[in-house]
Amino acid sequence: MRPSVLATRATFPDIADRLHPYFDVEDNPHDTIWSPAELRQRLQGKHGVMSTGSERIDAALLDACPQLKAVCNVGVGYNNVDVAACTARGVLVTNTPDVLTETTADYGFALMMATARRIAESQDFVRRGEWNKPGIHDMFVGGDVHGATLGILGMGRIGRAIARRGALGFGMRVIYHNRSQLPAEAEAEFGARYVDKATLLKEADHLVLVLPYSPQSHHAIGAAELAQMKPSATLTNIARGGIVDDAALAEALRAGTIAAAGLDVFEGEPAIHPGLLGLPNALLTPHIGSASVQTRRAMAALTIDNLIAALGFGPQAGKPPTPVNPEVLAAR
Ligand code: DGY
Repeated sequence: MRPSVLATRATFPDIADRLHPYFDVEDNPHDTIWSPAELRQRLQGKHGVMSTGSERIDAALLDACPQLKAVCNVGVGYNNVDVAACTARGVLVTNTPDVLTETTADYGFALMMATARRIAESQDFVRRGEWNKPGIHDMFVGGDVHGATLGILGMGRIGRAIARRGALGFGMRVIYHNRSQLPAEAEAEFGARYVDKATLLKEADHLVLVLPYSPQSHHAIGAAELAQMKPSATLTNIARGGIVDDAALAEALRAGTIAAAGLDVFEGEPAIHPGLLGLPNALLTPHIGSASVQTRRAMAALTIDNLIAALGFGPQAGKPPTPVNPEVLAAR
């Protein structure tokens, strides 16, 4: 009997076709969002799943689907997956690092620039037909990006790619805070300075969040942190909803505690805190940091390579390229 796999969301058909020589495939061509109960029902008898951040893969689901051997997540982040529960049950988890680094850094930088220079807000003004007199000295003035201080919270691959853009392309001074300090040669590449979190908050003109979500990073930016930032500062979140306390942020933006925020991720997305929706100084986008055609295709292809190899097929059988819990492979 051929193994069977589930693709929870629509993907590129020509890439997904690579599953067919090995597996019976159930897919989701209309890209319906399944309820947890529907996901559980569709996962019955499946040996592998190509999942996304929209689906929660937890211990209860794993226990209901004992045949499942591989959870291959489309995305570098995998906070939707209980990795410890997977490891305890011998289920391999994979993600898609590296292939999205530069594209996501492009987006983070673009969102930061658009936020600082008030691009969305000024476009809305033009579209509303309100541009009825010549520009005046204070129309949509924002903060400069070139030469400003770029603060990065979470200096992994994407954080470093953003730092490089800021330092080498825009003459920014780069400061960062991270669980661990980078090696001296990595810091030297973009003149980055490691600082404590309080200094990062106090000195950044533009603060960009690129850290993974975990219970430890939950509400890493809340009212107390926002109060330490400059009133002229911007905050950009391309990491995960839940890292920022969205209610506190809405209040800070309303009160002018900080100048503006560019947000690609939200607590409870696709729902958005109502306090953010009406604010002109909140630039809101629907979690599209890695959304270039090339990168989304590369993410799909890497996920499928992982799935085929994790279930013991193809040229990399037993050696999926990007495992999250490789100890599962060692124990097989
Ligand atoms: C990621 O890769 O984690 C992106 O946020 C897409 O989910």
